[in-house]
Amino acid sequence: MPSPTQAPARPPLATDLAGIPLRNPVLLAAGTAGTLTEMADVVDLSKLGGIVTKSITVAPREGNKTWRIIPSDHGMLNAIGLANVGVEAFARDYAPHVAAVPTAVVGSVSEFSIEGYVRVAAMFNATPGIVAVELNVSCPNVNHGCEFGSDPALLAELVREVRAVTPRVRLFVKLSPVVMGQPGIVAVSKAAIEPLGGVPGGPNQRPGADCLCIANTVPAMAIDVESRRPRLSRGGGGLSGPGIHPIAVRLVHDAWHGICRDTKTPIVGIGGVLTWKDAAEFIIAGATAVEIGTGLFVDPRCPLKVASGLESWVRRQGASSICELVGSIRPPETVGHA
Ligand SMILES: Cc1cc2nc3c(=O)[nH]c(=O)nc-3n(C[C@H](O)[C@H](O)[C@H](O)COP(=O)(O)O)c2cc1C
Repeated sequence: MPSPTQAPARPPLATDLAGIPLRNPVLLAAGTAGTLTEMADVVDLSKLGGIVTKSITVAPREGNKTWRIIPSDHGMLNAIGLANVGVEAFARDYAPHVAAVPTAVVGSVSEFSIEGYVRVAAMFNATPGIVAVELNVSCPNVNHGCEFGSDPALLAELVREVRAVTPRVRLFVKLSPVVMGQPGIVAVSKAAIEPLGGVPGGPNQRPGADCLCIANTVPAMAIDVESRRPRLSRGGGGLSGPGIHPIAVRLVHDAWHGICRDTKTPIVGIGGVLTWKDAAEFIIAGATAVEIGTGLFVDPRCPLKVASGLESWVRRQGASSICELVGSIRPPETVGHA
């Protein structure tokens, strides 16, 4: 028992994500856990670090036709088509309940124009209980066709505009994995963190992103060899799950070393976390927290198991807090060759 003058020891998994205190670094990923609290039927939300809402667009969307989720040998393919209730229904039916959710709630935004992102982000900023807005920038821009997240100049413009309407909350930018090569994860991260001409939306705010979420699904396709038709109704889709995990670890590592460590920008690692080891890899590579999507489809209790495994790992590593292990990667061991 600590003496009355001693502060109680901080739990080993307690962390701080861009100024947001989290019970532990395990969050549920956008679009995989319902609109807000649907997972509460199977997971005790009060034991999670946080949840991310379904991505909300301005207009309600039914999404693509069946099949829009299929299993693959290395995870899952999906082309949901951003099915969601739209900004007005979220504000009316869900926003009043956010403050009562027993964990941190991050509002996710998808859109096809800067005005659309701004409108939804402003709604989340005005919603009591929302601690951060997460921009899903793997969406095509109606004006240019390219994804917001693959063009640093367009991304910087988007971040500047959204920052101006989010003075109360933290701003997370969820990057696409399709930036290997050109423009490169560091250039895209820089555009999100330091958008040219960006100004803080409120006191103690940065001009750009407070946190990067790395990454999203990887463009993919599956074909039925008898009918010779794509197996997803939309043709292509996005691969998630174990198959993309090493790609996401590499992106987190490169972003951490290339810009995030120096700018003190925390990272949320996303992609193929099914076990505590997957999450620990992200932490060692430079992530402060992780989000879990596909893992929930395999086992809805997976996030709780991941948190419990992480806690044992922190102790085994001789650390008193998981924060000590962020970016703690050591140089590779070389074998052979004199
Ligand atoms: C069925 C499904 C729906 C998704 N919907 C969204 C979404 O609305 N917004 C978003 O930013 N990401 C969405 N994602 C991507 C996930 O949030 C996550 O980035 C991706 O699946 C990689 O993580 P995982 O391997 O743990 O699933 C979706 C993924 C799946 C599988």
